[in-house]
Amino acid sequence: MNPAEIDSTRSQAQGEIDACSDAAALKEIERKYLGKSGVLAGWLTRIPSLPAAERPVLGQAVNRLKKELGEQVAARAAALEKAAAERDATSGTFDPTLPPARLERGTLHPLTTLTREIEDLFVSMGYQVADGPEIETDWNNFQALNIPPDHPARDSQDTFYLKSAGRLVLRTHTSPVQIRSLARLAPPLRVIAPGKVFRHEATDASHEHTFHQLEGLVVDKHVSVAHLIHSMKTLLRGIFRRDLEIRLRPGFFPFVEPGFELDARCPFCENGCSVCKQTRWVELLPCGLVHPNVLSACGVDPEQWSGFAFGLGLSRLVMLRFGINDVRLLLGGDLRFLEQF
Ligand code: PHE
Repeated sequence: MNPAEIDSTRSQAQGEIDACSDAAALKEIERKYLGKSGVLAGWLTRIPSLPAAERPVLGQAVNRLKKELGEQVAARAAALEKAAAERDATSGTFDPTLPPARLERGTLHPLTTLTREIEDLFVSMGYQVADGPEIETDWNNFQALNIPPDHPARDSQDTFYLKSAGRLVLRTHTSPVQIRSLARLAPPLRVIAPGKVFRHEATDASHEHTFHQLEGLVVDKHVSVAHLIHSMKTLLRGIFRRDLEIRLRPGFFPFVEPGFELDARCPFCENGCSVCKQTRWVELLPCGLVHPNVLSACGVDPEQWSGFAFGLGLSRLVMLRFGINDVRLLLGGDLRFLEQF
């Protein structure tokens, strides 16, 4: 670096700035000369190693050039911007008739779609849609449902307990809404309660710690298993748009007696497939007649009233209906999944 070199760099840079006709190119020139690893910065780092007599002269010369070029770049940038604005205003590059950028529109989650369909179906049969909190008392989630203190479902391996006084839990099923409904409404009553439930589970393609169920409860005079079967057949016809053969197997749940597992003919095959694991039956929902202890716990006389209850696995049903093979996709929030609906 010497005074002559500084001068020639000045005229070269000034030439480039003057000739430059767009903002991006101007930025490039600025970077080349004035940037952190630009020509001038390189010179300035070399100043300390020069002979003492030359340092002040050259240092001042470089700094002056830096200031001059900085001002010129700023002036040129302003001029370019002004020219661009004038060009836009006069040449019509702004076209107000162009269509706007594509708007991303949300869609209903498949869980919402199916929940609404099932709600409509039950409302048309005279049911009310009930709601309950996701944080429940031990009484509503277990005791009133005839689940004794030593029942394995109460194990902390299965249930999330809150670190609070009064033993609150994240509800492990929607059945506590049965208790809330019985406490709130006098029989006869028909309610369904869709909602989120929680279990302390290791997750995999078919297990999730948070999933959805839809509870059903009917309490009236002389309610029998025949009423239960009829309602479940109506439900299946609504969901799968045709009649499916069903079967009841005995199932144990402390809050129903007798209790059943209801299976339906596999809606997807004639001769066995992966969904029904070649059995031609899919396990659909647990159900049964409301246990007299549950009615008593809610102040309803089991000698006068009887009822049925069912617990539909909504998450599972959504998977069956939409052909989803991993339950974790439902609440995973992945747009690539959600955009398909
Ligand atoms: N609450 C039970 C469960 O989550 C399901 C159920 C509901 C069974 C109603 C019978 C009647 O496992």
